[in-house]
Amino acid sequence: VFGTDDQREVALTLTPSAALSVVERSAIRELADAVDPADEQADQPSQQLEWASPQWCVRIFGDDGRLASYIGIVLRDGQHDGHAVRIGGVGAVKTLPAKRNRGYARLGLTRAVEFLREQSKVAFGLLVCDPPLIAYYMRLGWSEYAGQLLVTQAGTATQYTFNRVMTLGLRSPAPIGGTIDLQGPPW
Ligand SMILES: CC(C)(COP(=O)(O)OP(=O)(O)OC[C@H]1O[C@@H](n2cnc3c(N)ncnc32)[C@H](O)[C@@H]1OP(=O)(O)O)[C@@H](O)C(=O)NCCC(=O)NCCS
Repeated sequence: VFGTDDQREVALTLTPSAALSVVERSAIRELADAVDPADEQADQPSQQLEWASPQWCVRIFGDDGRLASYIGIVLRDGQHDGHAVRIGGVGAVKTLPAKRNRGYARLGLTRAVEFLREQSKVAFGLLVCDPPLIAYYMRLGWSEYAGQLLVTQAGTATQYTFNRVMTLGLRSPAPIGGTIDLQGPPW
């Protein structure tokens, strides 16, 4: 899929993570390093948590053909207030510092949500983010979730309190309260 970025061409692809080549994986690692060089270090707070690996990803390549932006996608069978629900997750959203504020992440998030809508039975979308980004995701239609989020850490159900949780209505309205159980690690 091609779009324009101030008349310059950008390319967007959605790929199952398992289909990524070694070279593509190392480009994603390089992007992650450029976005947050400290993130892989064991003393980082986020490294204390167990995270799910994305099953699909959206990648956006800038006009120079290089990977500029990445969004991970997870499909998860969880529960909301005890009822089984399929949850569509987006995470690991990142854009190269030099390529920010061109709408790349917005473009990629829009494609990720479109993909979730195409899947059968995905009740709602869920993402976690730091407080400063809440307003950004609200502009893209997401709502802040005020209920409890349970995730699995080392095989045990644990309350998620690391940062904030946002939801997006898909086949069901976005839950704003209650208890969501991801029945697995967060993303
Ligand atoms: C957040 C991020 C992915 C946005 O990428 P991008 O391609 O520049 O996104 P877009 O061009 O679609 O939108 C940029 C918007 O994000 C906002 N934004 C980015 N970082 C922000 C921050 N820390 N606090 C508040 N707003 C922020 C910008 O102000 C801009 O707002 P606007 O839509 O009103 O213009 C990018 O800044 C990034 O990689 N940040 C570091 C990693 C991170 O925080 N990822 C999010 C994990 S949930």
